[in-house]
Amino acid sequence: MSDYKADFPVFAAYKDLVYLDSAATTQKPRQVLEAVEKYYREENANPLRGLYELSVKATDAYENARESVRSFIGAASTREIIFTRNASESLNLISYCFGDLVREGDEILAAVSEHHSNFLPWQQLAKRTGAKLKFLECDKQGEYTADALNAALSPNTKLFAIAQVSNVFGRVNPIKEFADICHKNGTLIVCDGAQSVPHMPVDVHELGVDFLAFSGHKMLAPMGVGVLYGREELLEKMPPFLYGGEMIEYVTRDGATYAELPHKFEAGTVNVGGAVGLHAAIDYINSVGFENIVRRESALTALAYEYMKQIPHVNIIGADSAAEHHGIITFTVDGVHPHDIAAIFDSENVAIRAGHHCAQPLHQHLGVQSTVRMSLAFYNDEQDIERFITTLKSIRGRMGYGG
Ligand SMILES: Cc1ncc(COP(=O)(O)O)c(C=O)c1O
Repeated sequence: MSDYKADFPVFAAYKDLVYLDSAATTQKPRQVLEAVEKYYREENANPLRGLYELSVKATDAYENARESVRSFIGAASTREIIFTRNASESLNLISYCFGDLVREGDEILAAVSEHHSNFLPWQQLAKRTGAKLKFLECDKQGEYTADALNAALSPNTKLFAIAQVSNVFGRVNPIKEFADICHKNGTLIVCDGAQSVPHMPVDVHELGVDFLAFSGHKMLAPMGVGVLYGREELLEKMPPFLYGGEMIEYVTRDGATYAELPHKFEAGTVNVGGAVGLHAAIDYINSVGFENIVRRESALTALAYEYMKQIPHVNIIGADSAAEHHGIITFTVDGVHPHDIAAIFDSENVAIRAGHHCAQPLHQHLGVQSTVRMSLAFYNDEQDIERFITTLKSIRGRMGYGG
């Protein structure tokens, strides 16, 4: 098995670190760090406006990054790829720019397991417009069915928001099937790809989604760069998000016309360094290959899952099959608060996450206050899982429980 950790300087700096919080943010390979540094050393200038060589280089670096994102997710045109700060901003952009697409009396449907970033923008849109926000419920296994979706849609449902992979369950939702159902109903589908795009091949045309949002920092790139894919026809209809430099065509005292896509949605000086880092991250992911990534992450998830199943008092949230957990296993331990669990893991240099994982409506739906989440990436290895399991086994004993 290749030692991918060798590419990630953090593991040389913290030799004892077991990093199992990749769903929150991934570590960064040297290839990404070097690309960003090279950009700032050799190509930095304000892009898109300068007519001198360095500015042209910065513009090329930025637009080449856009092209690499386009091809990575199978979009038809770079006009459909908007750089944002993160998945949250991408989702907010849609909700702010929905304009006439949602009105009083319309309905918005959101899956109950959504991250707050794919829920609060819709809650706010509903409040602003007088539309009604409804929920698609899942079962305890984290499964959503086509029957439930059909029953939840009405002729007034304008939009359905759902993640491809839940950041709590780690389960892959049947987006293509759901997109077909939505479109037959005249409903748009917004897909949150924050936890899928880094871990599996995602093709917007195969999925048939209208919008896809994701974050660079969860896929090896720096923080501060995210992506919104939107179908060109929809983006054309939407008004700008933020106003200012770069997003205009012509401005007078009384009004303005706006730039062509995608620049209409990218006001102000853009994050070229972040885009360059994302480009390098995509190149790196492609060089490892999704076949390897999926194989390795599935094997490590299955290993952790099977061990966890055997530990008394450990309760796994969601599906009772390892195959339905894609790199994410959320759990509780009877009698021990998730924050105590996280503190014990931290004392062993194992980084995991405790809390509601920005999915409070889901925790309310499941009837739990908070949970613990381990999430992995292809740079993890079997030793990481063993250290995680050894610590997990010790938790109740350390909290004073016998047996
Ligand atoms: C499923 C999902 N959606 C959206 C987000 C928000 O991502 P960001 O904080 O990068 O905007 C996250 C982050 O944890 C997530 O897991």
